[in-house]
Amino acid sequence: MLNFAKQLARDAGRILREHMGRQLDVRHKGQIDLVTEVDLLSEKFIREQINNRFPKHQILGEEGGLSEQTSAYRWIVDPLDGTTNYAHGYPCFCVSVALEHEGTVIVGAIYDPTRDELFAAERGQGATLNERAIQVSTIPSLERALLCTGFPYNVRTSPQKNLNHFSRFLDVAQAVRRDGSAAIDLCYVAAGRFDGFWELNLSAWDMAAGSLIVTEAGGQVTKFDGSPFDNYIPEILATNGLLHTAMSDVLLQK
Ligand code: IPD
Ligand code: CA
Ligand code: CA
Repeated sequence: MLNFAKQLARDAGRILREHMGRQLDVRHKGQIDLVTEVDLLSEKFIREQINNRFPKHQILGEEGGLSEQTSAYRWIVDPLDGTTNYAHGYPCFCVSVALEHEGTVIVGAIYDPTRDELFAAERGQGATLNERAIQVSTIPSLERALLCTGFPYNVRTSPQKNLNHFSRFLDVAQAVRRDGSAAIDLCYVAAGRFDGFWELNLSAWDMAAGSLIVTEAGGQVTKFDGSPFDNYIPEILATNGLLHTAMSDVLLQK
């Protein structure tokens, strides 16, 4: 299953790379929420591959929703995470593929085609980047930490714009980034490039593979208050573990 997920992420990533920079057909799902023909092509390819190999498995994909099968296995896929970046030619986007078994994610693979980086994990087996083991960072304090976050598509209308958190972390961290691909952000926590990441309003396909990759790289993933993470609840705090309480305290400040 892990090898299948890795190959699938790589092959779908090739579709993203091949269409990069071409004139794209872009539609608006919301005021600032885009979908390109490449999101749809990539998801179609992924669904075909899963259906051929595991016809009884269920699939949850961002563009096509939940398939009809009832199964203990559910593939959770984001065919293009970072669509706004992609549509602007900003090279920070990926394909994210996870496999859930009876509600627990057991396999995750995320492929960044512009850097040819494949992040992957199987529950209990550690995490890898291009087949080499990866570990979260050992940065122990917020003042030395490079953090990352994102802003949801409902940022214009939501009362929770994440700016309060962003502003507080600017005051206490070494620096804060906003890169536009939650799945890549999580991989970078796993690889020790970021020390912590938080975001609101994400969906299961943004977090399922990345959250497993972080925990398998020795990091910690919870809701903001430190309670157990749930892919279907849109709130995530992912850190190297050492910063977890400090970040949770900042997020919970009134
Ligand atoms: C988005 C990205 C972004 C995050 C958004 C997501 P998409 O996914 O992960 O970083 O801030 O909330 O929806 O739409 O590019 O697949
Ligand atoms: Ca996404
Ligand atoms: Ca997407």
